[in-house]
Amino acid sequence: MSVQKQIRRITVPEIRARKGGVPLVSLTAYHAHTAAIVDRYADFMLVGDSVGMVMHGMESTIGVSLEMMIMHGQAVMRGSSRALVVVDMPFGSYEESPQIAFRNAARIMAETGCGAVKLEGGVQMAETISFLTKRGIPVLAHIGLTPQAVHVMGGYKVQGRDQALWDLIKQDAQAVADAGAFGIVLEGIVEPLAREITAQVTVPTIGIGASAECDGQILVLEDMLGLNDKPAKFVRQYGAIGTAIDEAVKSYAEDVKSRSFPDERHIYR
Ligand code: KIV
Repeated sequence: MSVQKQIRRITVPEIRARKGGVPLVSLTAYHAHTAAIVDRYADFMLVGDSVGMVMHGMESTIGVSLEMMIMHGQAVMRGSSRALVVVDMPFGSYEESPQIAFRNAARIMAETGCGAVKLEGGVQMAETISFLTKRGIPVLAHIGLTPQAVHVMGGYKVQGRDQALWDLIKQDAQAVADAGAFGIVLEGIVEPLAREITAQVTVPTIGIGASAECDGQILVLEDMLGLNDKPAKFVRQYGAIGTAIDEAVKSYAEDVKSRSFPDERHIYR
């Protein structure tokens, strides 16, 4: 008999069933405290490899390791109890072969307890997505602007401005859906293309910088909270946490320098 507390989280089939329904709400989360807050409102949380840039000050997601993803995945699982948690597969952990992808995805699932993994790529990753899903690992696909390919793309550029490339991106969407992905993150693509892909595939599309023409939206939490002073243009700010932290730290520094902790003095007597 299991002595673990039974926790009822939103499931992959429930996310998949939201195609065309009430839009899916998603945000990134990297640590327990923010996960606990996001958990109240999000259908799923992504432990994104953007953690490398947001929390570790890296230039890109390329240097993020499997161990980092597992550690942050564990923290988010500890802090949450309701939303589905999806953990990103970092660069180099899945591209080489479906077998290597399985081994690393299985580690992520077993060591974090998360409900699914995400990986970047379209047609070229279809075989791997099929291999994983047939072996019990739900996969969220990610196409369009794929940050792990930043060096191939020559920067973080909106995809599909040139209509001649639409067919390639639509083929990517169809290939990952046919391979068994339960949803598709569409990053940095133009609105009419997002609309066409959303109408074309039978799984939910989750947009980030891809317009409201998707079945749901995801943002990097720290970007929408105002902690990043150079967020992407499409990010709407819902908070000014950077300013709030600055003001709090400044007040604290002033109190320390003026030895002014009057309320706490009785503790030391
Ligand atoms: O790593 C990440 O945060 C992502 C996004 C889709 C937000 O992949």
